[in-house]
Amino acid sequence: MLSLRLANSISPHYPGETGIGKSTLMDTLFNTNFENFESSHFEPKVKLRAQTYDLQESNVRLKLTIVNTVGFGDQMNKQESYQHVVDYIDTQFESYLQEELKIKRSLHNYHDSRIHACLYFIAPSGHSLKSLDLVTMKKLDSKVNIIPVIAKADTISKSELHKFKIKIMSELVSNGVQIYQFPTDDETVSKINTAMNGILPFAVVGSSEEVKIGNKMVKARQYPWGVVQVENENHCDFVKLREMLICVNMEDLREQTHTRHYELYRRCKLEEMGFTDTNPESKPVSLQETYEAKRHEFLGDLQRREEEMRQMFVQRVKEKETELKEAERELQGKFEQLKRLHSEEKSKLDEKRRSLEDEINTFSKKKTAAELLQGQPFNTNANLKKDKDRKNSGFM
Ligand code: GTP
Ligand code: MG
Repeated sequence: MLSLRLANSISPHYPGETGIGKSTLMDTLFNTNFENFESSHFEPKVKLRAQTYDLQESNVRLKLTIVNTVGFGDQMNKQESYQHVVDYIDTQFESYLQEELKIKRSLHNYHDSRIHACLYFIAPSGHSLKSLDLVTMKKLDSKVNIIPVIAKADTISKSELHKFKIKIMSELVSNGVQIYQFPTDDETVSKINTAMNGILPFAVVGSSEEVKIGNKMVKARQYPWGVVQVENENHCDFVKLREMLICVNMEDLREQTHTRHYELYRRCKLEEMGFTDTNPESKPVSLQETYEAKRHEFLGDLQRREEEMRQMFVQRVKEKETELKEAERELQGKFEQLKRLHSEEKSKLDEKRRSLEDEINTFSKKKTAAELLQGQPFNTNANLKKDKDRKNSGFM
């Protein structure tokens, strides 16, 4: 996929799988050599790489921004592939909208990064569109001008190409995909544009090689069996694409981007923000009224939320109070139990102390008695000795 921003500035955007020939076609289209980095098939997500160039041919200056979709379709999750593209396009619209909503707008020198054309590269399978192609184009068709191209069209035979084109268009129609239609209301271009609408999608060939044909060097791809000339209309639709994109319809692409795609984005975004042109009774509503209504709604919402928060706070405080009371009750219970244990322990100890004191008293009494008893035999011996002494002295 490739997006072009045109402008005297043009922004193309090109989604298409890795290696499908996007960079080569861009180089061939603008006859230059843009910075190209070969992409890996293992990008974890799609990246959009924008590069801006100032091109000049004769007196025409062209500011071209090319947005390449790197790693498109290489992810397991296919939504990943297109969502980044959708987001990228929306972001450019959003920047423009923000500029438009500024009090001091400078849209005349604003760097418009909106995507004006999306070259959607279809693989030359000759079979049918991949589901990713259909889903992606469906997601993008209300946001950007899609120009489908069959890449590497030299790899498919003429009759197969014819059938493939018909198949692609019928699949697009039956899936409700709206591709860009070259405008036919302007008489000067209606004939060519009608004819070109009939040969979509363009079958393109790109090449960085030049081959000598007659006495002229031309962009071509050389094969053992012959030469495919990029700019030969019998060989492919490259010239038609270039004419349609850069010469005939550049202005229309820019206009459609602004009046159709951007307008839709703007409308949805403003409606989402609550702006409306009429009230439910289909009466016009001024910006001031919308502002007042929104302000009122906002204040009401704020009050409601404040009340909710207040109630939530009261509820939380109540819960906390109950929790604390419960904890206090538990603590009190534990305290009472400890007190009981303590007094039981104390009375046991008192009991023990009393019995010990009794024992000590008994012991002391016994000790005194024992001491008394011990004192008596000692006196008897002394008396015996006295008697003995008396006998010996003859006082008996
Ligand atoms: P990534 O940026 O890596 O995703 O690749 P790409 O889509 O930019 O493809 P690129 O232009 O680098 O081309 C990949 C290969 O395809 C190169 O070998 C090109 O020479 C070849 N190629 C490019 N255009 C054509 C074409 O129209 N026909 C044929 N047969 N081969 C082409
Ligand atoms: Mg490339």
